[in-house]
Amino acid sequence: MPHKIKKEPSSASKLVKGLEGVVAAQTSLSDVDGENGRLLYRGIPIGELVEKSHFEEVAYLLWYGKLPTATELDDFKNTLKVQRPLSDRALEVLKLIPTTTHPMSALRTMCSLMGSLDPRAHIVNPEESLRKAYHLTGVFPTIIAAFYRLREGKEPIAPDMSLSHAANFLYMMHGNKPTPEMEKALDAYLILLADHGLNASTFAARVTTGTLSNLYSAVTSAVGTLAGELHGAANQYAMEMILEIGSPKNAAAYVNKLLDEKKKVMGFGHRIYKTRDPRAEAFRQIARNLCVKAGKTEWLEIADQVEKVMMERKNIPCNVDFFSAPVLYVLGFPPDFFTTVFAASRVAGWSGHIIEQQLDNRLIRPLAEYIGPQEQYYIPREERK
Ligand SMILES: CC(C)(COP(=O)(O)OP(=O)(O)OC[C@H]1O[C@@H](n2cnc3c(N)ncnc32)[C@H](O)[C@@H]1OP(=O)(O)O)[C@@H](O)C(=O)NCCC(=O)NCCS
Repeated sequence: MPHKIKKEPSSASKLVKGLEGVVAAQTSLSDVDGENGRLLYRGIPIGELVEKSHFEEVAYLLWYGKLPTATELDDFKNTLKVQRPLSDRALEVLKLIPTTTHPMSALRTMCSLMGSLDPRAHIVNPEESLRKAYHLTGVFPTIIAAFYRLREGKEPIAPDMSLSHAANFLYMMHGNKPTPEMEKALDAYLILLADHGLNASTFAARVTTGTLSNLYSAVTSAVGTLAGELHGAANQYAMEMILEIGSPKNAAAYVNKLLDEKKKVMGFGHRIYKTRDPRAEAFRQIARNLCVKAGKTEWLEIADQVEKVMMERKNIPCNVDFFSAPVLYVLGFPPDFFTTVFAASRVAGWSGHIIEQQLDNRLIRPLAEYIGPQEQYYIPREERK
């Protein structure tokens, strides 16, 4: 019997550009409440997690769906820690990547390499994915810090197993143990960015997973998707803008010019949060504390002026990437590394979504509305004009 041919799209389908407002998955990881400007992980408000928890515990919460007992948390931290070192083979490859490469491209390449070096990469099931999730979450900071140091002409620093995930990340970047305040600031960053519903990179991870491809492939897709300026790279461009503005007195003219030219101001606007991004509010406070301590209040004054113009002219509030930019800068990350730090956090959420997708999988395959020419004949090459 011949196959029944399905023409796409069916007459009932309606094109929704950018899939805006379309529900394409179910998740129990995070609840993005755009109307009320709230974000909850497994039902717990992120503000509470920043105040009382830390990144490792939040990753456990996202992956296992509950807060760990003290023993479970210890085991979790130890399992994550042993994934930190980069193998000699991986380091060799990292050294071959030109230092002019954007750090997000280097991370994407290394993420894919981790899959090549794992003999069990091809096995696809939730248990195996969990093991791979520990691996990538544990090793991402080591890859990022090693690439940073190689670019600076310095030797990579081996992880310090006595330090927390956040403190060790800063230690591997700069070679000294961070102050408790700096550790807390990076830890807050890692918590606040860890998951966010069906954002573009998470969607990419779920689409890749939907084909029964493995976690390394799915996270590699996600890293590539995060790298764009409408998503994860906005933090880099927000900081570069603040630095380029240079002084609070230049801010209004700079932003007005961008808006007059119908350009986007990085770090503002959101597809879901139209009134307030709760993560932006958290970062505003962290940025204030850190910048005042570091004597860099000028960046805050510039940021305040940019925000003022955006609210007056467009009524568009800032998003997570705006005030988190000075936080990462004070922590010593160069702007082009900001998005890699985002990835080091979001890998926890991606992994949780990948496992969730595997537990109830259905191939993700939407339709395209065909708008090209209708049936035509093949014109022989010699007759073409
Ligand atoms: C995040 C973003 C892609 C969401 O976009 P969206 O829901 O698709 O909204 P649109 O891009 O369609 O914008 C709607 C309107 O607001 C304006 N707008 C949105 N964000 C803006 C920004 N950052 N700067 C200036 N104008 C902006 C658009 O120009 C558009 O105006 P118009 O209706 O007069 O044409 C968008 O706000 C943006 O590009 N922001 C800058 C990049 C960024 O910070 N990304 C990180 C997101 S966490």
